[in-house]
Amino acid sequence: MSGDLSPIDKAKFVAAKRAAQFVEDGMRVGLGTGSTAAWLVRCLGEMVRDDGLKIRGVPTSSRTAQLAREVGIEVISLDEAKWLDLTIDGADEFDGELNLTKGGGGALLQEKIVATASDQMIVIADIGKEVEHLGAFPLPIEVIPFGWQTTQALVEETLISMDVLGRSSTLRMNGDRPFMTDEGNHILDLHLNRIGNPRQLALVINQMPGVVENGLFIDICDTVVIGYGDGRVEVRDINQGTVATERLDFVESDNLFSYLSD
Ligand code: 5RP
Repeated sequence: MSGDLSPIDKAKFVAAKRAAQFVEDGMRVGLGTGSTAAWLVRCLGEMVRDDGLKIRGVPTSSRTAQLAREVGIEVISLDEAKWLDLTIDGADEFDGELNLTKGGGGALLQEKIVATASDQMIVIADIGKEVEHLGAFPLPIEVIPFGWQTTQALVEETLISMDVLGRSSTLRMNGDRPFMTDEGNHILDLHLNRIGNPRQLALVINQMPGVVENGLFIDICDTVVIGYGDGRVEVRDINQGTVATERLDFVESDNLFSYLSD
């Protein structure tokens, strides 16, 4: 039940619940990946079941696809949707320009493709994700398995000339095996500490052979919905330059919170 949620989970929940209000009948919606996005999917599932909301969802990972189907959202592929009205996703960090670091859950490639193919991207996050400069959270980059150690060495060497404070990297693991993305690739986490020029870094990294995509989302996010542990929600719109704050009540719903035991 919601009363048992930690303050961080409450913050994620209220951000997701507020963002779900942006979803309208008939929309094709990109569904993000991660714990905050999972709340969004549950909220939308509830709206589909209880309010008759009619949407088609394009998930950004196999995990999200499974959850979306479980809660009753019609799932279609990006190619079936062709273009999306809205994508709602979490983030690992966001700065004042709504540049993002994403990929903590390993789904950055599909997340970036889906968000870029959307009229609007809304990020949902607890206030702890806001930073002055990106980079404290390790930057994930997706690399193909072939020659990944050579790619890693090339990336680290290139970082010498970049505006970053650290340049070590680690291969993400899943137990004693390398983590595999939905596309069968690996993730290198770059420990940069501070990224001075995210736009430049994103361009340079993506030029390297072996790199599929990086977790920097530049000029993609339009709106951030920030949740607080006490139920407050702040909606910041970068295009309109508006900030609105409100408080959401926790409404206990067996349908929504029963998924917590998963
Ligand atoms: C997955 C992501 C997630 O959006 C990001 O890691 C945030 O996750 P959470 O909402 O669990 O904190 O980019 O690839």
